[in-house]
Amino acid sequence: MNSTATIAFLGTGSMAGAILTGLLNSGADASAITATTRTEASAERLRNTSPGVNAVSIAQDPAANRRAAAKADVVVIGVEPGQAPALLDEIAGSLRPGTLILSIVSGLTLADLEGHIPAGVSLIRAMPNTPARVGAGMTGLAMEEGTPHDALQTAVGLFETSGTVLVIPESQMDALSAVSGSGPAYFFYFVEQFTEAAERLGFSHEAARTLVETTFTGSARLLAETGSEPGSLRAAVTSPGGTTEQALAVLGRKQYEEGLKEALDAAMAHAARQR
Ligand SMILES: NC(=O)c1ccc[n+]([C@@H]2O[C@H](COP(=O)([O-])OP(=O)(O)OC[C@H]3O[C@@H](n4cnc5c(N)ncnc54)[C@H](OP(=O)(O)O)[C@@H]3O)[C@@H](O)[C@H]2O)c1
Repeated sequence: MNSTATIAFLGTGSMAGAILTGLLNSGADASAITATTRTEASAERLRNTSPGVNAVSIAQDPAANRRAAAKADVVVIGVEPGQAPALLDEIAGSLRPGTLILSIVSGLTLADLEGHIPAGVSLIRAMPNTPARVGAGMTGLAMEEGTPHDALQTAVGLFETSGTVLVIPESQMDALSAVSGSGPAYFFYFVEQFTEAAERLGFSHEAARTLVETTFTGSARLLAETGSEPGSLRAAVTSPGGTTEQALAVLGRKQYEEGLKEALDAAMAHAARQR
């Protein structure tokens, strides 16, 4: 990532805010970043959490998006899918040739967005996830053939400040969104359910959280740091005829695997319906 690039985050909520935090934690120059929001309360929150960033709400300055876009080398579009085409139309006349637009909007394709982008401006679609906030994000990138190589390098550089990047064909974007974009929610849901199950065994909420969260973060580290297959790490906990085997058999009977497949299919189908 070119350290002198000027960046505009247009629509800085939970996802764009997480990327912004990852970027700042990597040592990026906060004074080169503008972040816009709809309400003044959100802009005020950003000023507190991201000191040095120029956070502006369109409630205070209705031209904030256009102003930020006009001086940006990179524009990150972080609004909801229904608002993205209108936002792009709003800033189109302000963008300079050579600007890179990074859309993190789920569901909307490059083709959906291209008609809203002026000639000479590059567009890359990105699907990040919220662990970006702690530098452990997973971002998929897709672009049309013919996108300048330096635009891709800039996008990779930006998202690598908050984690891992995978460049994929756009046809896989909905699938990636269902797996890693939404994935943190599946994990947190599982942690919530698992913590409640531990409380039902008699642990206080605090003790249950410690047990569950330490077990999950420890297991994630074991997986990442050993590079072992999850199946072999699972086998190492599962003595034949032991207690773990009993619990896994119940998860299998409750059609855990089938439920997970159906959940991902539902997420993908919804991404397609948003177009
Ligand atoms: N959440 C995720 O895990 C995730 C993952 C991948 C991709 N995405 C994509 O990221 C996008 C945002 O999702 P999110 O979860 O971050 O939603 P969010 O928290 O609601 O963020 C949307 C932000 O846009 C702001 N906004 C709305 N209209 C605006 C406008 N006209 N100009 C400037 N700012 C405006 C809102 O401001 P206020 O706060 O003042 O209302 C808010 O800060 C969506 O397109 C989603 O598909 C999300």
